Amino acid sequence: MRKGRSCGLGTALLTVMIVASGCTRGTTSRRPPIHPNPNMDVQPKYTPQNTSEFFYDGATMRLPLPGTIARGEFSEEPTLATGRLADGSFATTNPLAGRPHLVDRGRERFGIYCQPCHGESANGRGMLYERSGVESANLKEQRIVDQPDGQLFDVITNGLGLMSGYKYPIPPEDRWAILAFVRQLQQEGE
Ligand code: HEC
Repeated sequence: MRKGRSCGLGTALLTVMIVASGCTRGTTSRRPPIHPNPNMDVQPKYTPQNTSEFFYDGATMRLPLPGTIARGEFSEEPTLATGRLADGSFATTNPLAGRPHLVDRGRERFGIYCQPCHGESANGRGMLYERSGVESANLKEQRIVDQPDGQLFDVITNGLGLMSGYKYPIPPEDRWAILAFVRQLQQEGE
């Protein structure tokens, strides 16, 4: 008997609660609505660039672990991708040397990506110089001729000083092709 009564009371209470919680729906009120079941509506979470009380450095965003390789960045031939040998020094030869049509490909890509600044003959006086008087490096300068292939590849990849890197618009094979063409230009002299 007693069990049945308390059960009936519980049901009645629950019904009142459900009805009451529904009352505020669709009506405006200055007070926050009754929220018996949060349903994960409000969740503690980190937003980008925010501060954190949890991580030791106080930053929400975490750095990738050392040695992490982003998707699409893995290369089975590190020299081809970086211009450096296993010991970190610059490669002295072009890993694609001897590949058919390498220089032709390089000439075409150079015309698109480098010529506007460095000029058709790579003397540093392209369209940019003609229009604004800003000179780019003369790639036939002895100092640049003397740099190992890997170092020039590194400049094309990551940029240097005023010049930005071309890692994203130009795939590694094309960067080496451009370098092969630049080497040919350098041999032609002034
Ligand atoms: C938007 C203009 C611009 C473009 C495009 C550009 N460069 Fe440059 N480059 C420069 C400037 C400016 C410098 C001089 C940078 C400095 O010394 O601050 C330079 C410097 C260099 C150097 C010399 C680095 C040294 O040791 O002094 C090399 C090599 C080079 N560029 C190669 C290239 C190649 C190859 C391309 C095409 C993939 C290219 N650049 C595209 C503007 C450009």
